[in-house]
Amino acid sequence: MSELITIKDLKVHYPIRSGFLNRVTDYVYAVDGVDFVIEKGQTYGLVGESGSGKSTTGKAIVGLEKITSGGIIYEGQDVTKASTRRKMQYNKDVQMIFQDSMSSLNPKRRVVDIIAEPLRNFDRLSDQEEKKRVKELLDIVGMPEDALYKYPHEFSGGQRQRIGVARAVASNPKLIVADEPVSALDLSVQAQVLNFMKRIQEEYGLSFLFISHDLGVVKHMCDNIAIMYKGRFVEIGTKQDIYTNPQHIYTKRLLSAIPQIDVKNRDAHKETRRLVEAEYINNQKNYYDETGRVYDLTSISPTHQVALKDGGKS
Ligand SMILES: Nc1ncnc2c1ncn2[C@@H]1O[C@H](COP(=O)(O)OP(=O)(O)OP(=O)(O)O)[C@@H](O)[C@H]1O
Ligand SMILES: [Mg+2]
Repeated sequence: MSELITIKDLKVHYPIRSGFLNRVTDYVYAVDGVDFVIEKGQTYGLVGESGSGKSTTGKAIVGLEKITSGGIIYEGQDVTKASTRRKMQYNKDVQMIFQDSMSSLNPKRRVVDIIAEPLRNFDRLSDQEEKKRVKELLDIVGMPEDALYKYPHEFSGGQRQRIGVARAVASNPKLIVADEPVSALDLSVQAQVLNFMKRIQEEYGLSFLFISHDLGVVKHMCDNIAIMYKGRFVEIGTKQDIYTNPQHIYTKRLLSAIPQIDVKNRDAHKETRRLVEAEYINNQKNYYDETGRVYDLTSISPTHQVALKDGGKS
């Protein structure tokens, strides 16, 4: 395995302006010091509740949000600055699937133009070549050819999300930041879109940063997972680490919130939930400091890190 991208102590703070002079009076610490590595061909899961900073992290990586401090190393090069990104073809290599397909696809443009946009930006194709490529892309995501000349509003949510997937793959990227790509879809359609994403990953060997609030969805997609809370990581590890050996109370709470389908396990699940809630109420100070901030991460195995007070010693 080899590293594709390394995120170093990334911070994105949004200024809050107020008062008559509209001065900056405080900041929203949307992302407040996160470190992680995405390997080539792998899927990295980023999970946390609403407002924890997932989209901001994703947007900062693709260059849509200004980085307050920290850095991004891509293929061994520092691409924190926009000027280096342009030289590195970073903007071609790193694409995003947006959380909300309705507002991320331009309603005034036809599907052919939406999907071809990255091609027009980065590849010089003839009209014919371009059309051929867009048709291929539609085929990959299971959309009929007659979608070409339609507008986004003429599709269902699931179809629009697949158009978003097709656009993201168009430029043959190395990394796709997929921000809640299936959250707005019903279960059967979710599975379809996830399958397309997996197929594309296998075909092109690309990496995903897969953002979700749902540990249930992420389980089948991800190799490694970071659990995010209030702009910080509370725990990172392999899929195995997170699902079979969760350490942070926040991770445990997220896990116990996954609905249990199996009737046999319902009582046991209820009991686990009760224990987790009790631990949360009694031992909060081991997991969050006085201001509610998440502690720094400590390694508890070569793959597994947890945010614990004094590294878990006290
Ligand atoms: N442009 C902005 N200006 C000011 N604050 C912002 C801006 N964008 C996001 N925030 C704030 O930053 C924090 C993180 O937002 P973000 O969108 O990254 O969360 P998220 O984890 O993606 O949530 P969700 O699951 O709801 O999509 C939130 O408190 C949000 O209100
Ligand atoms: Mg979001």
